[in-house]
Amino acid sequence: MSVVLVTGANRGIGHEVCRQLAGRGVTVIAASRSGALHPYGASLALDVTDESSVTRAIATIASNWGQVDVLINNAAVLLDQGQSILTLSSDSLRSTLETNLIGPMRVAQSVWPLLRNGGCVVNVSSMSGQFVEMDDWAPAYSLSKTALNALTVQLAIAGRPNAIRVNSVCPGWVQTEMGGIGAPLSPAEGAAGIVWLALDAPICHTGMFFRDRAVIPW
Ligand SMILES: NC(=O)c1ccc[n+]([C@@H]2O[C@H](COP(=O)([O-])OP(=O)(O)OC[C@H]3O[C@@H](n4cnc5c(N)ncnc54)[C@H](OP(=O)(O)O)[C@@H]3O)[C@@H](O)[C@H]2O)c1
Repeated sequence: MSVVLVTGANRGIGHEVCRQLAGRGVTVIAASRSGALHPYGASLALDVTDESSVTRAIATIASNWGQVDVLINNAAVLLDQGQSILTLSSDSLRSTLETNLIGPMRVAQSVWPLLRNGGCVVNVSSMSGQFVEMDDWAPAYSLSKTALNALTVQLAIAGRPNAIRVNSVCPGWVQTEMGGIGAPLSPAEGAAGIVWLALDAPICHTGMFFRDRAVIPW
């Protein structure tokens, strides 16, 4: 049975991803900052910005499950909506990168030894990180997701010798705390493409960016 680790599992898209994965009979490790009990998986405390929290969480996974088949790097923050790149503070950018870029890298590095041949990493990214579609509504968030996409390519290269696939996926604009109530997609619709990439995508795909089960340009 597949073991799937989801970060930021306590609400929004991450919560719904866990629900859909559990419905597929997968062993879900639902990681969140609080580590609160989760209805669709084994709860685990994991703050992606905290090195020791990540180390503890991965040690718990190693001793309880011994493996991870899929890591879904879902946790992220949006701190600078409406700000201008011309006045964006370095602190705001630093905090955003700590969660949205360094966090996923830290978790991927720690999980790596537990990922089996044929395992995969799914980085939940955004169209905001696309060069071809980028706009200016949240510059730090955009920069973080562009960098996350570059991390995807770097990890995909590192994964090739062991057939570990690493891809980015955009869930679309989804009704969550981050997406707001005006978003056109439900969490279930947003999560579906992530779950597809985690469990059903052709195994030839690595180092790519997806939306709605199709490859999109960087
Ligand atoms: N919603 C959209 O329209 C949209 C569009 C494109 C991409 N995305 C991406 O989809 C993913 C999920 O977004 P969402 O809409 O579900 O956002 P959300 O509702 O704001 O949820 C964000 C999740 O990330 C967690 N998180 C934040 N910082 C963390 C940390 N340091 N360690 C661990 N967990 C942390 C939050 O936990 P706490 O409860 O502890 O804060 C929460 O569970 C993100 O990667 C986001 O960038 C969303």
